[in-house]
Amino acid sequence: MTSKALQKVRDFEKKYLPYVQAEQPKFHLTGGIGWINDPNGFAPYKGEYHLFFQYYPYDTKWGPMHWGHVKTRDFLHWERLPAAMAPDTEYDRDGCFSGSAVETPDGKHLLMYTGVRNVRRRNGMIEAFQTQCIAIGDGVNYEKVDCNPVIQGDLLPEGGSTQDFRDPKIWREGDMYYAVIGNRCADTSGNILLYRSPDAMHWEFVSVVSACHNQYGSMWECPDLFRLDEKDVLLVSPQEMTAIGLEFHPGNANVCLIGQMDPDTHHLMRENVQAIDYGLDFYAPQTLLTEDGRRVMIGWMQNWETSSCKLSSLRFMGQMTLPRELSIRGGRLYQNPVRELERYRGIKIDYHYVLINGETSLRGINGRYLDMTVTIRPGNEASMFKWFRLYVARDGEHFTLIRFRPDTSTIKVDRTHSGFPHDIVNVREFPVWMKNGVLKMRVIMDRYSLELFVNDGEQAASFVLYTPLEANAISFSSDGSVLMDVEKYELEMN
Ligand code: FRU
Repeated sequence: MTSKALQKVRDFEKKYLPYVQAEQPKFHLTGGIGWINDPNGFAPYKGEYHLFFQYYPYDTKWGPMHWGHVKTRDFLHWERLPAAMAPDTEYDRDGCFSGSAVETPDGKHLLMYTGVRNVRRRNGMIEAFQTQCIAIGDGVNYEKVDCNPVIQGDLLPEGGSTQDFRDPKIWREGDMYYAVIGNRCADTSGNILLYRSPDAMHWEFVSVVSACHNQYGSMWECPDLFRLDEKDVLLVSPQEMTAIGLEFHPGNANVCLIGQMDPDTHHLMRENVQAIDYGLDFYAPQTLLTEDGRRVMIGWMQNWETSSCKLSSLRFMGQMTLPRELSIRGGRLYQNPVRELERYRGIKIDYHYVLINGETSLRGINGRYLDMTVTIRPGNEASMFKWFRLYVARDGEHFTLIRFRPDTSTIKVDRTHSGFPHDIVNVREFPVWMKNGVLKMRVIMDRYSLELFVNDGEQAASFVLYTPLEANAISFSSDGSVLMDVEKYELEMN
């Protein structure tokens, strides 16, 4: 049965969504209208890929969480479906928080999410009860099951807190369901708990997969655990990170832990810990496995740190990254836009071995909807250039700068002049490595965003831009001589 709260949101969508198309990015998902945060329930169902998201359509800021809903066949065209869930029961009255989805053996679409109920105590403090809940549906309509919540405080290991117990990622293996869930434990930082169940209704605690021990931030949100290229990979989104070199930035960060699961203890033995995305706008990623065996990740292309900074003229707030194919090479996480993007490449313009020393622009190299790869190497074998700068979304007043310095081996992205009407952090620097004397930067732009992939996906960095759309020039400059190739495609969505 559709509750009043869910009907209200569905009516609202019917009324307003038809009017908001014009201001949307071409192929990055937004909520259409209102606020979105984390991707949820990113999973195949009956031959299509469904995606839900944390959703508050009534405003461009966070509010009581609903689940918005879309589906796709190619990860780039999204078909909107009516909102899937609203906070409309006693156990989720303060929000249907993040979660995931799986197809059941009998063809049902099962959603697992965190129900939030806040209780104000006598001293005025709010105590949150976060529990794990299930809804079952047919790909459009979902019923929350009678036995909710299916996991609550009594199934927490000692010291675990129901105040921070959220974001289940469910999957099926053999005859069992498994789920990893974020929790705050006795040392006040996060850990990731593994549960299992034969029917998704009756669960037992299995193990602590990995614990933060206050090393990488505090509470760990939005876990995802999967096997990839002979490694076990755990993705988490830590809160309150303090900076660690140029790898992890302060605030809401993102971390990938790579290693092997111990088959007896179900604990992840770490071999490498790295950032997932080095940009200013990335959080809470989630993955799925495609039918042809690709592990594809999508993230919230925003961050709590940047989420109050918006353009008042836009009726949506928050977009998702491009879905990205993941792999592990040399013990590191690699990511590249899904290959389906190549189908939408239009006119190609390319240049080879352009020698630059100073500032240059190239005829036909411009735009705000593009897929462009810039490859650079020293133009003079005897002396390394000092820096190389790539300016995009440029006009007389605006620009976004991507600067590479070989001496520090870093890329700095600066979007100070990219239309932001608030004084937030707009610069991010991260380590990169030239490979055989060459650095490759693939830049994807789609109206209000820039995603950078370095060296065939060795690093990714996501940024929201609010630069006026007329600012579409691109230029290159260097201190010292650089030999450059540029390959640019217009991106066209029909
Ligand atoms: C992460 C998060 C989740 C929570 C959701 C609430 O961005 O804080 O932990 O489920 O957002 O919207």
